[in-house]
Amino acid sequence: MKTLKSKILLNEKVLNNIYKLVIEFNSEIDEIKPGQFFMLKTLDNSFLLPRPISVNDANENTVTFLYRVEGIGTTQICKLREKEEIQAVGSLGNGFNLNELNGKIAVVGGGIGIAPLLYLTKKLGNNADVYLGYKDCVYYNEEFEKYANSVTVITEDGSSGKKGYVTDYINYENYDAVVTCGPEIMMFKISDGCKAKNVSCYMSLERRMACGLGACLGCTVETKIGNKRACKDGPVFLSEELLI
Ligand SMILES: Cc1cc2nc3c(=O)[nH]c(=O)nc-3n(C[C@H](O)[C@H](O)[C@H](O)COP(=O)(O)OP(=O)(O)OC[C@H]3O[C@@H](n4cnc5c(N)ncnc54)[C@H](O)[C@@H]3O)c2cc1C
Ligand code: FES
Repeated sequence: MKTLKSKILLNEKVLNNIYKLVIEFNSEIDEIKPGQFFMLKTLDNSFLLPRPISVNDANENTVTFLYRVEGIGTTQICKLREKEEIQAVGSLGNGFNLNELNGKIAVVGGGIGIAPLLYLTKKLGNNADVYLGYKDCVYYNEEFEKYANSVTVITEDGSSGKKGYVTDYINYENYDAVVTCGPEIMMFKISDGCKAKNVSCYMSLERRMACGLGACLGCTVETKIGNKRACKDGPVFLSEELLI
């Protein structure tokens, strides 16, 4: 983990309030695991605490993020332009353990929760069936098509792909493991579906974070094996271990 000033190569709108940010480091970065994140902050102190944003893709010395503008931090980040600098601390968190993801894998994302799942799908090497759930507007599905075995798009209003909730379309018994990121209500429904069919379920929790480094205990999650920090011990947890 390093605190690095990095140069912005791209910070562009994908759709509505969804942006893609690509940053370049001028020094070598450690290998990044899918599911890890960076704490991002503008250098002008226009907001105090850095914001956690997942790695959407990574190459030798560039990292891509996909983020939704929510409040002050992401609003300031989306104003940054090419060639400006941004503070990036990372890579942080446990990430997904690829050794545990063998056999047939379903990758299930809801809304901006799809962000960390692209890099994971890429690392799974054309092996994963990807399910992407959106309220209405669809984005980034074509990126997943480059790396997935199959991609199923589901919208709540049926304006694109299949109609309904992403959870309506997963046959859990077809998979050895399911990996998910998105709204907690969606992830817990998926966890229940997995439990009923005795399938492992890994979820990436997007809890509010202050330090992102394991120091403030602001992101504590109760588990069967004691309290864990979402930023340091997570954000990826085996769902059956969680007590939430
Ligand atoms: C490990 C991790 C990875 C994440 N990866 C991504 C990502 O790849 N792309 C992305 O768009 N977002 C991601 N998030 C969520 C992102 O960190 C928050 O949206 C961001 O911190 C909001 O900051 P803000 O200053 O813009 O909004 P604020 O002004 O701080 O808050 C605006 C609104 O967003 C809500 N909010 C703030 N933080 C979170 C959070 N962690 N989860 C849910 N709601 C929140 C607040 O309750 C409030 O309603 C991630 C969060 C975590 C913990
Ligand atoms: S955010 Fe400080 S311990 Fe997790």
